[in-house]
Order: sequence, then structure tokens, then C-alpha cells
Amino acid sequence: MISIEEMANFCKRRGFIYPNSEIYGSISGFFDYGPLGVELKNNIKKEWWKYHVHSREDVVGIDSSIITHPKVWEASGHLNFFQDIMVECENCHERYRADQLIEQKTKERADVPSIKKIVSLMKKYKIKCTNCGKDTLSNPMPFNLMFQSFVGAKEDKGSVVWLRPETAQSIFVNFNLVQENARLKLPFGIAQIGKAFRNEISPRHFLFRLREFEQMEIEYFVHPEKRNDCPYIDDISHEEISIYSAEMQENNSKPKKMTMKEALNKKIIKNQWHAYWLIMEYKWFISLGANNNNFRIRQHLKDELSHYSSDTWDLEYNFPFGWKELLGVADRGDFDLKQHMKYSKKDLSLFDEESKKKILPHVIAEPSLGVDRAFLVFMYDAYYYDKERKNVVLKLCPKLAPVQVAIFPLLSNREGLINKSKEVFDLLKEDFNCFYDVSGSIGRRYYRQDEIGTLYGITIDFETLKNHDVTIRERNTQKQIRVKIKNLKDIIDKLLNNKIAFEKAGKLI
Ligand code: GAP
Repeated sequence: MISIEEMANFCKRRGFIYPNSEIYGSISGFFDYGPLGVELKNNIKKEWWKYHVHSREDVVGIDSSIITHPKVWEASGHLNFFQDIMVECENCHERYRADQLIEQKTKERADVPSIKKIVSLMKKYKIKCTNCGKDTLSNPMPFNLMFQSFVGAKEDKGSVVWLRPETAQSIFVNFNLVQENARLKLPFGIAQIGKAFRNEISPRHFLFRLREFEQMEIEYFVHPEKRNDCPYIDDISHEEISIYSAEMQENNSKPKKMTMKEALNKKIIKNQWHAYWLIMEYKWFISLGANNNNFRIRQHLKDELSHYSSDTWDLEYNFPFGWKELLGVADRGDFDLKQHMKYSKKDLSLFDEESKKKILPHVIAEPSLGVDRAFLVFMYDAYYYDKERKNVVLKLCPKLAPVQVAIFPLLSNREGLINKSKEVFDLLKEDFNCFYDVSGSIGRRYYRQDEIGTLYGITIDFETLKNHDVTIRERNTQKQIRVKIKNLKDIIDKLLNNKIAFEKAGKLI
């Protein structure tokens, strides 16, 4: 696996990701998606929406504004509790996230919201400033991660607003409207994809910890008396994954591979919905070409839980900088709806036809994934250096690849070839994401496309002008077939959807 710095360089060189405002020296924690990056990112979001919303009867989506009424963040607890613990060097004034300083020196996990524990770990390991090397770090202090702004012409206390640190809250505040409009019956989910902002003390690892990022979240609501009653559990109980429960971590034992059935029977995972959503998320990654060996699920330790959660499991990925959270599935109970009822004085409960009583649904599972972290995972699992080709081959799956088909006239100075190539481009551009390239040798053009993950290269040569056929080259195997232009659209479609083997799709050459 290449390092995160090498991945950042590759992404910049190939037009996937740029450091934000680089001509001014860039700004830490902010990145821009380039021409290929935006295509890959849009494909990830499209596939997420298709899997989580369009292909389910129990989930609908919303798209809410980034800035909300400031009371939302009072009610949600983010104003009081959404904080990291910071230390400042009293000599050089460098600021650090305390847990990261501890982890750097000791490899001990310290992302706990307890100042007392941080103080004891800092003493135990004699943590010093890594910038000036002096033993002059301040006492740890809480630092709220929300970005502040002002609405309107006056900048005073009354006009303060916050950029949302999670998309989830707009789902809770719109809960009643969405449930009524979409006539949803429990259990059901409300999904959203959108930007979130966190003033991270030390953003790091390229796209992993950003200050501006995007989330894909579902709040999944269940009847409060049916919290452990997942009707889909049989569909996933045979699925196997490496599990690292809180107990295993406390006992210093290793993660263990087991089926969901075993994990539920042994009460390692206590709630069926958690098992269900963790596996659904894992399967989504695998269905899009991610490597199953790089995933595991890990339960949060008690002192690691967010202020709203009673139990959280993360889907973790083995990044080059260690196993880290890719996605979280939290049990938020009725914390959020209750808080919004209290602060807004509006009734957010539902009428339960069965018991003829009002009930407040519980969010038993909140699958919450960062788009940018998913982007990193797909890049890592696709990145492959081919020693023979002396070239990177980005083995992205067809649904994610930024470009599906590249079209090349054999020579750039022959009008007949150029015109025919444009004809082929026009034929395919409506149905596929195509790229037209005339510059450099054919070999060079193939390799450039391999590096950005393009599935198929189509070459228009002198034979094409006589026989009305073209060569299609496949990215992973470099095999080539000859196909009639009139069949091209149908064949590319079948190839991309795995409906025909490449060797059988035309005459192998
Ligand atoms: N609504 C729940 C929530 O926001 P979280 O664990 O704080 O939970 C969910 O965030 C996901 O959002 C994470 O698993 C991660 O994929 C992504 N995420 C969180 N902070 C991030 C950051 N600073 N940069 C990039 N992605 C981030």
C-alpha cells in the first residue's frame, strides 16, 4: 500500500484532488476535487443513493440547508459537548489535539472525551511539544469544533449561526414533515448527503480528517418497544466479518472473524439492527470493488461514545496509517427527538395504530459515512502498480470509474480517422462517460487511461474506414477484441454491466 502522501501526490498529478487555494499556499483541512475526482465522487454518491434510498422501500431522502436555526445546536448538545481536547505549547504556541499527541508517541488510543484521562496519559508518557521539544504544554482544555458565522447585517450575539457539523440534525428537525409526506411506517429511515464542517484542531492524513467534508447519513427510526426486531436479519446472518468488541479491546485480545449469527447469539453484538446495518455498509463497499481483507468492525469503548450515543460500532478500514473509522453506526435512542421536542416545544411523537398511544421512535442505528473517506478507500483498493507496464493501473469498478470509454484515432493528422473517431464519440457519449484523446502514441494513450481507471480504450484505425469495426482494449488484462461499430453501444453496455465476457464480446486479436 502506498503512503498517504504518495496517494495525495498521485491524486494531484492525475487531476483527482488538489490542495485548496494552492496558489496562496493552500489552507489546512480543505481540498478541491479536480476533473476526475468530481466524477468519481459523484459516482460514489450516486451509488450510495441508489443502494440506500432507491432500492429500498423503507428509506426516503432529503436535502437540507447547511445553516439552520441556532437553537438546533443547543438542543442537539453540539454547543456544549461537540469538542476535542486541546493543548497549547506555552513556549512556541503550537496547538495540538491532545489524543493525537499521545497516540503519536505511544500508539495508545486516546480519543476519549475525558480531560481527566488525557491528563493522566500525558503525565504517564511525559508528553512534550513536538514542535519545539519543550516540556511546556498547557493543561488540556475543551475546544468546540463548530464553525461560527453571522446571519444578516449585524455581527452580534443575536445573529450567530453555525455551519452544521453533521447532516443528521436536519433529519431530526424535519422528522414529522417527512414521515407525514412520505407516509412512512416504522421501521423507516431518512437519508441525506451533504456538506459538514468541523474546525478540526489538527486536520491530517489528506482526505481522512478534513475541516470541510461531505457525509452520507441515514437516521433509521424504530418503534421504542421493538428496538431489537429487524425483519431483514435472516438476509445477513450468514455474513462474516472481523469483529473487535469493546470487551476484546479491554482484554487486549485480537479481533475475531465470525458470522453475524454467532456475534448475535453470543451477544457480542447486542442489537440486530446494528449487525444488519454494519453488514449492509460493508457489502456496499465490497459490491463496488473494495477489498474485504481491509475491513473490520469495532465497538466504541464506553468513554469514547459521543454525547448522544449509548452504543456505537464503526466499520474500520486498514489505512496506511492504521485501522481507522470509515463509518459509524450509533444507537442514538430517542435522544435527538426528545431534545428537539424540549427546545422547540413541538410534538414530534407518532401515533401508534397498534397500541393507540403516542410513541417517540428510537434511532437504533445511524449509518454515517464520509464521502471523502469512501473516496480514499476506493482509490486505495483500486491502486495497483503494474511492474511489466511500469505504470499504475487504477482498477476501479465500472460503476465508479470517472471515464468508462476512451476513444483514440490511431493518428492525429488523418482527417478520415479523426472524423470517424468523432462519429464514434458522438455515438457513445449519451450513454457512457467518454474521453477523446489524440495526443501521443497509442501505447502512451492507453497507459494514461490505465492510470485514471478507464475501463475500455477504443482505437479507430485504417481498417475501421474499410470494415466499419474498431479495436476495444480492456484495462486490466490488456486483451483486445475487434467489434463492428453498429454493435459497439450494445457491447460496451453489456461489458460494463458484466453481462458478457470480454473474450466473447468480439473477435479476439
Ligand atoms: N451523525 C453522526 C456523525 O457525524 P461521526 O462519527 O462524527 O458521526 C460520521 O462522523 C462519519 O463522517 C465518519 O465515520 C467519517 O467517515 C466522516 N467524518 C467525520 N469527521 C470527518 C472529518 N473531519 N473529515 C472527513 N470525514 C469525517
